[in-house]
Amino acid sequence: MKILPENLLRAELAEMQAYHVPDTSGLIKLDAMENPYAFPDSLREKWLEELKSVELNRYPNPHAIELKKTFQQAFSLSPKLELMFGNGSDELIQLLILATAKPGATVLTVTPSFSMYKLIAEYIGVNVVEVPLQQDTFALQLDLLVAEIQKHQPALIFLACPNNPTGTLWPKNEIENIVKIATGLVVIDEAYSPFAAYSMKSLVEQYSNALLMRTISKMGLAGLRLGWLYGSAQWLSELDKMRLPYNINALTQASANFALQNIALFDEQAKQICQQRETLFSTLETMENVQPFPSQANFILFKVLNGSANDVYGKLLEHKIIIKNVSNNKLLENCLRVTIGTQDENKAFVNALTNSL
Ligand SMILES: Cc1ncc(COP(=O)(O)O)c(C=O)c1O
Repeated sequence: MKILPENLLRAELAEMQAYHVPDTSGLIKLDAMENPYAFPDSLREKWLEELKSVELNRYPNPHAIELKKTFQQAFSLSPKLELMFGNGSDELIQLLILATAKPGATVLTVTPSFSMYKLIAEYIGVNVVEVPLQQDTFALQLDLLVAEIQKHQPALIFLACPNNPTGTLWPKNEIENIVKIATGLVVIDEAYSPFAAYSMKSLVEQYSNALLMRTISKMGLAGLRLGWLYGSAQWLSELDKMRLPYNINALTQASANFALQNIALFDEQAKQICQQRETLFSTLETMENVQPFPSQANFILFKVLNGSANDVYGKLLEHKIIIKNVSNNKLLENCLRVTIGTQDENKAFVNALTNSL
C-alpha cells in the first residue's frame, strides 16, 4: 500500500501554506528588515580568528554560558532574571506556544502584526484571536483588547513593540495595562528595539507574567539565527525544559559572542539607519501619491494613493528592487513596506518608486 501525506498527516496541513520567502538574487533587497551594513574588514579578520578555535567535532555548550554573560553585560540585564536563547525568535515563539498549548488554549495578538504568531499557533493547533488595530493610526484599541482578553483568557499575548509591519511603538502605560489585566503571559517582542525611542524592558523586571523577546537579526546578524527571551526565572526554567539541548550551534555562539563584545559598532549602524529612515520618511511625505506612516523601526509602511500597491510592487521588481507587499490585510489596503537600506539603496528605491507611481 502506498502511504500518502493526506492519509497520515494532520488534516490542517493540507490547507496551510509554508512561509514564503521569495528568490531575491540580483535584486536590491529591501523586503526583510535586514541591516544593510556588513562587518568592517578589521573586525571580520578578528572574528575569523575567533572561529578558528571552535571545535566542530564537539556539541556546542548546551546553555550557551559564555554568550549569556556577554548578553547580560551588553544589554544591562538583571542577574535576578533569566535568559534563554532560541534559533531565532521564531523558535522561541514556537516554544512558547508549544508549552502553553493545552486543549482550548488561546493565543491573542493584534492585526496587522508579525505573521509568525498566527502561523505557528495555527500549525500547533491552538486558537488564535486577532484584535484589530485602529485604522490608519495603528494604535491599540484598548477597550476592545481588554474585552477580548477577558473573554478568551489567552495563555499568551504577543505584542510587537515596535510593531511589524506598521512601525508603531505603543505607549508603555498601555502595554503595562495589558500586562496587569492579562491572565496569562504577555510576550513583548522587541525585535526592532535598536531603532526605537524606548524599550519595555522595565515592565519585564516588574511583572513576572511579562517576558521580553528580542533578536540579533535586525541589528545586523540575521544569518546567525539567534533570538532571546528574558524574564522571571520561575517561568524560564520551566520553558527551558522544552528547548532542544543544542539549539544554538557552536559557530553562532562564538560569532554572536564576538559581535556583542563589539556592540558599539551595531549601535552606530542603528543610528545611521534611523537617520536614513527620517530622510526617507521626509522624501515619501513630499511625494503626491504616497502616504508614509511614522515608524520606530528599520522600515516604513506606506500607502499608495490613486493607484494599486500590487502594480507598484510589480514595477519596483522590474527596477530590480524588492520590498514587501502587505496589502492583503484589510487594514493595510494598498500598503507596502520598505526596509531602510544604505543611502544609495534608498535613493535607488525613491527613483524607482517615482517611476512606478
Ligand atoms: C516582530 C518580529 N519578531 C520576530 C521576528 C523574527 O526574528 P528572528 O529572525 O530572530 O526569527 C521578526 C522578523 O521579521 C519580527 O518582525
